[in-house]
Amino acid sequence: MKNDHDISGFEQQLTAHAVTVEQLLIRLLDERPRLGEVTRPPRLMAAIRHGALNGGKRLRPFLVTETARLYDADPAAALRVAAALECIHCYSLVHDDLPAMDDDDMRRGMPTVHKAYDEAAAILAGDGLLTYAFDIIACDETELPVKTRLDLVASLARAAGIGGMVGGQALDLMAETASPSEAEIITLQAMKTGALIRFACEAGAIIGNASEQERERLAEFGSAIGLAFQLADDLLDVTADAATMGKATGKDAAAGKATLVSLHGVDWTRQQLAGLVAQAEDLLAPFGEKAQTLKEAAHFIALRQS
Ligand code: IPE
Ligand code: IPE
Ligand code: MG
Ligand code: MG
Ligand code: MG
Repeated sequence: MKNDHDISGFEQQLTAHAVTVEQLLIRLLDERPRLGEVTRPPRLMAAIRHGALNGGKRLRPFLVTETARLYDADPAAALRVAAALECIHCYSLVHDDLPAMDDDDMRRGMPTVHKAYDEAAAILAGDGLLTYAFDIIACDETELPVKTRLDLVASLARAAGIGGMVGGQALDLMAETASPSEAEIITLQAMKTGALIRFACEAGAIIGNASEQERERLAEFGSAIGLAFQLADDLLDVTADAATMGKATGKDAAAGKATLVSLHGVDWTRQQLAGLVAQAEDLLAPFGEKAQTLKEAAHFIALRQS
């Protein structure tokens, strides 16, 4: 990875894609009750929209649609899966910011949901987003074979749940009081952040009905960039300011949280990032030119400044 790698072209692509995802999320999160729903309480919907329609890089949805593109899969179906995954990600952030967890006041440059509303609203907004994600994938409007939808639901549940993101969040909180080893930190990061990013990349293979081998390869690509993503987040927590990040920085050190950055320092982390990008690029080699944008995504993740 060259430090002068130009990620601006990729950033433009990501921004354009974010607009498309946001448009779908706006439609999905309107106040019209869907079949089988009684009402959508306006204040709950407002809290949900605050937590989901507030900017964000929309990187995970981008990875879903981009990996699905490798298989020329139906872009509309892929976009719905992408939006569902973003709902889970947004729920994880709303809950991550709660006083009982990271106790943060700012997210994506705005007050966190529990600050703008209250804690109960933030808990319920997260619950609503989590549940809705599975509705979005499972329902008939996602025009994929039933078996594919079931596979996506099961894989997303595994990635988001006890042995994935939720479990990782539990281990992460423990890292404030215990002193985890390097291997333990890598495990918790693979869970709290890696699992959803891994799923994002695997999702394209599931949607595209890829071979087991290619599915595993894309999932491994997701794991590599997932670890890189959290390393970069921990690095930016040390090196960036709150205005740029849209959230407080310096929080990990203040909380005494063990991260690979706190363990090994900034230079080591940058070297690790370079290694992970190289590994990610190697995993994409068999896909040739078609995977160029995914390669750029890997560089973006390691070099991002916000
Ligand atoms: C932040 O994720 C939480 C982590 C897993 C480190 P992002 O950096 O993707 O946040 P948004 O969605 O762009 O706000
Ligand atoms: C959050 O990790 C990971 C999830 C929400 C699953 P962090 O706590 O480091 O994320 P930020 O720094 O608040 O965005
Ligand atoms: Mg956290
Ligand atoms: Mg946090
Ligand atoms: Mg962080």
